[in-house]
Amino acid sequence: MPTTLITGASRGIGLALTERFANEGWRVIACARTPDKAKALAALAEDDRVSTHGLDVTHHDDIVNLAATLDGTPIDLLINNAGIYGDKNRQSFGDIDYASWLEVLQVNLLGPVKVAEAFATHVATSDRKIIAMLSSQMGSITETAGGGYVYRTSKAALNMAVKSMAEDLKGRGITLVALHPGWVQTDMGGANAALSVGQSTAGLYRVLTGLGPADNGRFLQYDGAEIPW
Ligand SMILES: NC(=O)c1ccc[n+]([C@@H]2O[C@H](COP(=O)([O-])OP(=O)(O)OC[C@H]3O[C@@H](n4cnc5c(N)ncnc54)[C@H](OP(=O)(O)O)[C@@H]3O)[C@@H](O)[C@H]2O)c1
Repeated sequence: MPTTLITGASRGIGLALTERFANEGWRVIACARTPDKAKALAALAEDDRVSTHGLDVTHHDDIVNLAATLDGTPIDLLINNAGIYGDKNRQSFGDIDYASWLEVLQVNLLGPVKVAEAFATHVATSDRKIIAMLSSQMGSITETAGGGYVYRTSKAALNMAVKSMAEDLKGRGITLVALHPGWVQTDMGGANAALSVGQSTAGLYRVLTGLGPADNGRFLQYDGAEIPW
């Protein structure tokens, strides 16, 4: 049975991916800041294939401790999904909230890189050896339309980390990708977003389960289309 570890599994895309992978027969290590309060996740954990773990990705000691707890467990697919947008109204040139910017970088950039560092051995000892980062088209330098400094830069920097890790980890057989889930109807994406959570995660599931070494260092959206860096 292949294993995936998913961060930010309490709601939104992370919760839907947890359900999807479990339904497809995967073992899911579902990480959430406060699993006890995540009722939908707790319901999924009634399935033996889903285990829940408390993990705030800004708490690096907790990341290291969880990696130690799971020592010897191969992780086929590490999905760094947890992310925040920051204050939507304080991201324009001339009106940036710098404290919020630092918080967003802690969650969207430092957290996923620390998780990848802590779990690289678990991934390297698995069959599939995939690390996926939930990035965003908003992190594409080519496609920026201006504004959104806080969120855009967090994902652009995450993209650079993906490209660098793709180089650094390929010798261990690990494949790294950045993924854009589309504009999705979650708390982050809002009710007017283009895609339902089910549409996005059905596509992400297809992309994630089709990845191989030839995909190392790619930036793909939920339908498999390439996004320019
Ligand atoms: N929705 C979109 O349109 C869209 C578009 C492009 C990219 N994305 C990316 O896709 C990913 C998932 O987004 P979403 O739409 O599902 O967002 P969401 O509905 O707002 O859910 C965010 C998830 O991240 C978790 N989280 C936040 N801070 C965390 C922390 N410090 N440690 C651990 N978990 C934390 C949340 O946990 P709590 O419940 O504890 O807060 C929640 O589970 C994010 O990386 C996002 O940037 C989304």
